[in-house]
Amino acid sequence: MKDVNDPGDDDLARRIEALGPWFHNLRLGGIETAPGHFLGDFPRTKFERFAHAIPEDLSGKSVLDIGCNAGFYALEMKRRGASRVLGIDHDEHYLRQARLAAEVEGAEIEFRQLEVYDVGALGETFDLVIFMGVLYHLRHPLLALDLIREHVCGDMLVFQSLQRGPEQVLEVPDEVPFSEETIFEKPGYPAMYFIEKSYSEDWTNWWVPNRAGTEAMLRAAGFSIEARASEDVYICRRAQVPYAQWGAGAAYPARGAAR
Ligand SMILES: C[S@@+](CC[C@H](N)C(=O)[O-])C[C@H]1O[C@@H](n2cnc3c(N)ncnc32)[C@H](O)[C@@H]1O
Repeated sequence: MKDVNDPGDDDLARRIEALGPWFHNLRLGGIETAPGHFLGDFPRTKFERFAHAIPEDLSGKSVLDIGCNAGFYALEMKRRGASRVLGIDHDEHYLRQARLAAEVEGAEIEFRQLEVYDVGALGETFDLVIFMGVLYHLRHPLLALDLIREHVCGDMLVFQSLQRGPEQVLEVPDEVPFSEETIFEKPGYPAMYFIEKSYSEDWTNWWVPNRAGTEAMLRAAGFSIEARASEDVYICRRAQVPYAQWGAGAAYPARGAAR
Protein backbone atom coordinates (compact mmCIF):
# COMPACT_ATOMS: atom_id res chain seq x y z
CA MET A 1 0.00 0.00 0.00
CA LYS A 2 1.24 3.48 -0.87
CA ASP A 3 2.11 6.04 1.80
CA VAL A 4 0.30 9.33 0.99
CA ASN A 5 3.13 11.19 2.72
CA ASP A 6 5.78 9.75 0.48
CA PRO A 7 7.15 12.66 -1.64
CA GLY A 8 7.52 10.32 -4.55
CA ASP A 9 3.87 9.35 -4.45
CA ASP A 10 2.68 9.64 -8.06
CA ASP A 11 -0.93 9.11 -7.08
CA LEU A 12 -0.88 12.07 -4.66
CA ALA A 13 0.88 14.21 -7.26
CA ARG A 14 -1.87 13.37 -9.74
CA ARG A 15 -4.61 14.22 -7.24
CA ILE A 16 -2.96 17.56 -6.45
CA GLU A 17 -2.64 18.39 -10.13
CA ALA A 18 -6.21 17.36 -10.89
CA LEU A 19 -7.47 19.78 -8.20
CA GLY A 20 -5.48 22.75 -9.55
CA PRO A 21 -5.07 25.61 -9.93
CA TRP A 22 -4.19 26.24 -6.26
CA PHE A 23 -4.04 29.64 -4.54
CA HIS A 24 -2.48 28.29 -1.33
CA ASN A 25 0.97 26.86 -1.64
CA LEU A 26 0.77 23.89 0.72
CA ARG A 27 3.31 21.12 1.08
CA LEU A 28 1.38 17.91 0.82
CA GLY A 29 3.47 14.80 1.18
CA GLY A 30 6.45 16.93 0.19
CA ILE A 31 4.75 18.27 -2.94
CA GLU A 32 4.15 22.03 -3.29
CA THR A 33 0.67 22.82 -4.54
CA ALA A 34 1.42 26.30 -5.96
CA PRO A 35 5.17 26.56 -6.35
CA GLY A 36 5.00 29.45 -8.84
CA HIS A 37 2.70 31.68 -6.74
CA PHE A 38 2.89 35.36 -7.71
CA LEU A 39 3.26 36.28 -4.01
CA GLY A 40 6.07 33.78 -3.37
CA ASP A 41 5.60 31.03 -0.79
CA PHE A 42 2.06 32.15 -0.01
CA PRO A 43 0.53 32.19 2.55
CA ARG A 44 3.38 30.71 4.63
CA THR A 45 5.61 33.79 4.49
CA LYS A 46 2.62 36.03 5.25
CA PHE A 47 1.66 33.88 8.25
CA GLU A 48 5.21 34.04 9.60
CA ARG A 49 4.78 37.81 10.01
CA PHE A 50 1.77 37.56 12.38
CA ALA A 51 1.77 33.97 13.72
CA HIS A 52 3.14 35.24 17.06
CA ALA A 53 -0.07 37.24 17.67
CA ILE A 54 -2.34 34.17 17.76
CA PRO A 55 -2.35 32.00 20.90
CA GLU A 56 0.08 29.14 20.45
CA ASP A 57 -2.10 26.76 22.42
CA LEU A 58 -5.67 26.57 21.18
CA SER A 59 -6.62 23.42 23.08
CA GLY A 60 -10.30 23.33 23.81
CA LYS A 61 -10.99 26.26 21.45
CA SER A 62 -13.24 26.36 18.41
CA VAL A 63 -12.15 28.06 15.20
CA LEU A 64 -14.08 29.24 12.15
CA ASP A 65 -12.04 30.07 9.03
CA ILE A 66 -14.19 32.13 6.65
CA GLY A 67 -13.02 32.04 3.04
CA CYS A 68 -10.71 29.18 4.00
CA ASN A 69 -9.55 28.42 0.46
CA ALA A 70 -7.32 25.30 0.54
CA GLY A 71 -7.27 25.40 4.32
CA PHE A 72 -3.81 26.77 5.15
CA TYR A 73 -5.01 28.66 8.25
CA ALA A 74 -7.48 25.96 9.30
CA LEU A 75 -4.63 23.44 9.27
CA GLU A 76 -2.37 25.78 11.24
CA MET A 77 -5.06 26.28 13.90
CA LYS A 78 -5.59 22.53 14.14
CA ARG A 79 -1.82 22.17 14.63
CA ARG A 80 -2.17 24.54 17.58
CA GLY A 81 -4.56 22.11 19.19
CA ALA A 82 -7.99 23.60 18.41
CA SER A 83 -10.65 21.07 19.31
CA ARG A 84 -13.02 22.08 16.53
CA VAL A 85 -12.09 23.73 13.25
CA LEU A 86 -14.65 24.59 10.60
CA GLY A 87 -13.59 26.07 7.28
CA ILE A 88 -16.17 27.66 5.02
CA ASP A 89 -15.82 28.97 1.49
CA HIS A 90 -18.35 29.66 -1.23
CA ASP A 91 -16.18 27.99 -3.85
CA GLU A 92 -16.37 24.19 -3.97
CA HIS A 93 -13.19 24.10 -6.08
CA TYR A 94 -11.15 25.31 -3.09
CA LEU A 95 -13.04 23.14 -0.61
CA ARG A 96 -12.04 20.03 -2.59
CA GLN A 97 -8.43 21.11 -2.21
CA ALA A 98 -8.91 21.73 1.52
CA ARG A 99 -10.40 18.27 2.02
CA LEU A 100 -7.45 16.64 0.30
CA ALA A 101 -5.02 18.71 2.40
CA ALA A 102 -6.74 17.68 5.64
CA GLU A 103 -6.76 14.04 4.52
CA VAL A 104 -3.04 14.08 3.74
CA GLU A 105 -2.25 15.87 7.02
CA GLY A 106 -4.55 13.54 8.98
CA ALA A 107 -6.30 16.60 10.42
CA GLU A 108 -9.89 16.42 11.58
CA ILE A 109 -11.35 19.60 10.08
CA GLU A 110 -14.84 20.16 8.76
CA PHE A 111 -15.21 22.04 5.49
CA ARG A 112 -18.53 23.37 4.33
CA GLN A 113 -19.66 25.37 1.33
CA LEU A 114 -21.18 28.57 2.65
CA GLU A 115 -21.45 32.25 1.76
CA VAL A 116 -20.09 34.63 4.37
CA TYR A 117 -23.51 36.32 4.35
CA ASP A 118 -25.02 33.03 5.57
CA VAL A 119 -22.91 32.55 8.71
CA GLY A 120 -26.04 33.00 10.81
CA ALA A 121 -27.20 29.61 9.53
CA LEU A 122 -24.34 27.94 11.43
CA GLY A 123 -26.18 28.65 14.68
CA GLU A 124 -22.89 28.50 16.57
CA THR A 125 -20.27 30.87 17.94
CA PHE A 126 -16.53 30.26 17.77
CA ASP A 127 -13.70 31.31 20.11
CA LEU A 128 -11.61 32.39 17.14
CA VAL A 129 -12.81 33.56 13.74
CA ILE A 130 -10.36 34.00 10.89
CA PHE A 131 -11.54 36.39 8.20
CA MET A 132 -8.60 36.96 5.95
CA GLY A 133 -8.41 37.96 2.33
CA VAL A 134 -12.15 38.07 1.80
CA LEU A 135 -13.46 41.57 2.61
CA TYR A 136 -12.30 43.18 -0.64
CA HIS A 137 -14.00 40.42 -2.63
CA LEU A 138 -17.38 41.40 -1.23
CA ARG A 139 -19.96 43.75 -2.65
CA HIS A 140 -21.26 44.33 0.89
CA PRO A 141 -18.21 44.31 3.14
CA LEU A 142 -19.64 46.08 6.20
CA LEU A 143 -22.67 43.79 6.19
CA ALA A 144 -20.33 40.79 6.32
CA LEU A 145 -18.47 42.23 9.31
CA ASP A 146 -21.77 43.01 11.05
CA LEU A 147 -23.00 39.45 10.50
CA ILE A 148 -19.75 37.90 11.74
CA ARG A 149 -19.93 40.05 14.88
CA GLU A 150 -23.60 39.25 15.42
CA HIS A 151 -23.64 35.51 14.72
CA VAL A 152 -20.30 33.70 14.91
CA CYS A 153 -17.52 35.62 16.63
CA GLY A 154 -17.48 34.63 20.29
CA ASP A 155 -14.21 36.31 21.22
CA MET A 156 -11.27 36.83 18.85
CA LEU A 157 -11.21 37.88 15.20
CA VAL A 158 -8.13 37.64 13.02
CA PHE A 159 -8.78 39.99 10.14
CA GLN A 160 -6.90 40.86 6.98
CA SER A 161 -7.72 42.92 3.95
CA LEU A 162 -5.88 44.11 0.92
CA GLN A 163 -5.25 47.80 1.54
CA ARG A 164 -4.37 50.58 -0.84
CA GLY A 165 -3.91 54.30 -0.46
CA PRO A 166 -2.26 56.31 2.30
CA GLU A 167 -0.95 54.70 5.48
CA GLN A 168 -1.87 57.65 7.69
CA VAL A 169 -4.71 57.39 10.18
CA LEU A 170 -6.59 60.61 10.92
CA GLU A 171 -8.32 60.99 14.27
CA VAL A 172 -11.80 61.92 13.04
CA PRO A 173 -13.87 63.96 15.52
CA ASP A 174 -17.30 62.67 16.59
CA GLU A 175 -18.99 65.46 14.66
CA VAL A 176 -17.88 67.11 11.42
CA PRO A 177 -19.94 70.13 10.33
CA PHE A 178 -21.69 70.11 6.93
CA SER A 179 -19.55 73.04 5.79
CA GLU A 180 -16.33 71.08 6.30
CA GLU A 181 -15.28 69.52 3.00
CA THR A 182 -11.51 69.44 3.09
CA ILE A 183 -11.32 66.71 5.74
CA PHE A 184 -12.36 64.18 3.11
CA GLU A 185 -9.28 65.02 1.08
CA LYS A 186 -6.89 64.38 3.96
CA PRO A 187 -4.81 61.25 3.37
CA GLY A 188 -5.69 59.68 6.74
CA TYR A 189 -9.46 59.98 6.35
CA PRO A 190 -11.09 56.50 6.38
CA ALA A 191 -11.90 55.52 2.80
CA MET A 192 -12.63 52.61 0.51
CA TYR A 193 -11.93 52.56 -3.20
CA PHE A 194 -14.71 51.10 -5.31
CA ILE A 195 -13.42 48.89 -8.09
CA GLU A 196 -15.92 48.74 -10.89
CA LYS A 197 -13.75 46.77 -13.26
CA SER A 198 -10.90 44.29 -12.91
CA TYR A 199 -8.03 44.78 -10.47
CA SER A 200 -5.00 42.49 -10.53
CA GLU A 201 -6.69 40.43 -13.24
CA ASP A 202 -9.52 39.66 -10.83
CA TRP A 203 -13.09 40.79 -11.43
CA THR A 204 -14.09 39.73 -7.92
CA ASN A 205 -12.32 42.65 -6.24
CA TRP A 206 -14.93 45.25 -5.30
CA TRP A 207 -13.86 47.45 -2.39
CA VAL A 208 -10.35 48.17 -1.19
CA PRO A 209 -10.03 50.18 2.03
CA ASN A 210 -7.11 52.31 3.10
CA ARG A 211 -5.61 51.59 6.51
CA ALA A 212 -7.82 54.13 8.30
CA GLY A 213 -10.88 52.74 6.53
CA THR A 214 -10.08 49.17 7.62
CA GLU A 215 -9.66 50.19 11.24
CA ALA A 216 -12.78 52.38 11.29
CA MET A 217 -14.95 49.64 9.78
CA LEU A 218 -13.74 47.06 12.28
CA ARG A 219 -14.61 49.40 15.15
CA ALA A 220 -17.96 50.36 13.65
CA ALA A 221 -18.92 46.69 13.28
CA GLY A 222 -18.25 46.10 16.98
CA PHE A 223 -14.66 44.88 17.16
CA SER A 224 -11.98 46.39 19.34
CA ILE A 225 -8.54 46.32 17.73
CA GLU A 226 -6.08 44.70 20.09
CA ALA A 227 -3.10 44.69 17.78
CA ARG A 228 -2.03 45.42 14.25
CA ALA A 229 -0.06 42.22 13.99
CA SER A 230 1.49 43.02 10.62
CA GLU A 231 0.88 45.68 7.98
CA ASP A 232 -2.64 44.51 7.08
CA VAL A 233 -3.50 41.92 9.75
CA TYR A 234 -5.49 42.84 12.84
CA ILE A 235 -6.17 40.93 16.06
CA CYS A 236 -9.57 42.04 17.33
CA ARG A 237 -11.98 41.21 20.11
CA ARG A 238 -15.73 41.16 19.97
CA ALA A 239 -16.90 44.36 21.63
CA GLN A 240 -20.03 46.47 22.01
CA VAL A 241 -21.41 47.75 18.71
CA PRO A 242 -20.84 51.49 18.93
CA TYR A 243 -23.34 54.02 17.65
CA ALA A 244 -26.10 51.39 17.93
CA GLN A 245 -28.54 54.20 18.67
CA TRP A 246 -27.81 55.54 15.15
CA GLY A 247 -28.77 52.31 13.43
CA ALA A 248 -25.49 50.41 13.52
CA GLY A 249 -25.59 46.62 13.47
CA ALA A 250 -26.50 43.99 10.94
CA ALA A 251 -29.39 44.90 8.69
CA TYR A 252 -30.49 42.51 6.04
CA PRO A 253 -33.63 41.97 4.05
CA ALA A 254 -36.31 39.60 5.29
CA ARG A 255 -35.73 36.24 3.71
CA GLY A 256 -38.42 34.32 1.95
CA ALA A 257 -40.76 37.28 1.70
CA ALA A 258 -43.11 37.20 -1.30
CA ARG A 259 -41.74 39.12 -4.27
C1 LIG B 1 -7.93 35.75 -1.52
S1 LIG B 1 -8.60 34.22 -1.01
C2 LIG B 1 -8.09 34.22 0.72
C3 LIG B 1 -7.90 32.84 1.23
C4 LIG B 1 -7.45 32.75 2.69
N1 LIG B 1 -8.45 33.21 3.62
C5 LIG B 1 -6.16 33.51 2.87
O1 LIG B 1 -6.18 34.58 3.51
O2 LIG B 1 -5.13 33.05 2.39
C6 LIG B 1 -10.35 34.56 -0.86
C7 LIG B 1 -11.15 33.34 -0.51
O3 LIG B 1 -12.43 33.77 -0.07
C8 LIG B 1 -13.44 33.03 -0.74
N2 LIG B 1 -14.62 33.90 -0.82
C9 LIG B 1 -14.76 35.01 -1.57
N3 LIG B 1 -15.98 35.55 -1.41
C10 LIG B 1 -16.63 34.76 -0.51
C11 LIG B 1 -17.93 34.78 0.03
N4 LIG B 1 -18.81 35.72 -0.33
N5 LIG B 1 -18.28 33.83 0.91
C12 LIG B 1 -17.39 32.83 1.23
N6 LIG B 1 -16.14 32.75 0.73
C13 LIG B 1 -15.75 33.70 -0.14
C14 LIG B 1 -12.84 32.68 -2.08
O4 LIG B 1 -13.45 31.58 -2.68
C15 LIG B 1 -11.39 32.42 -1.69
O5 LIG B 1 -11.17 31.10 -1.32
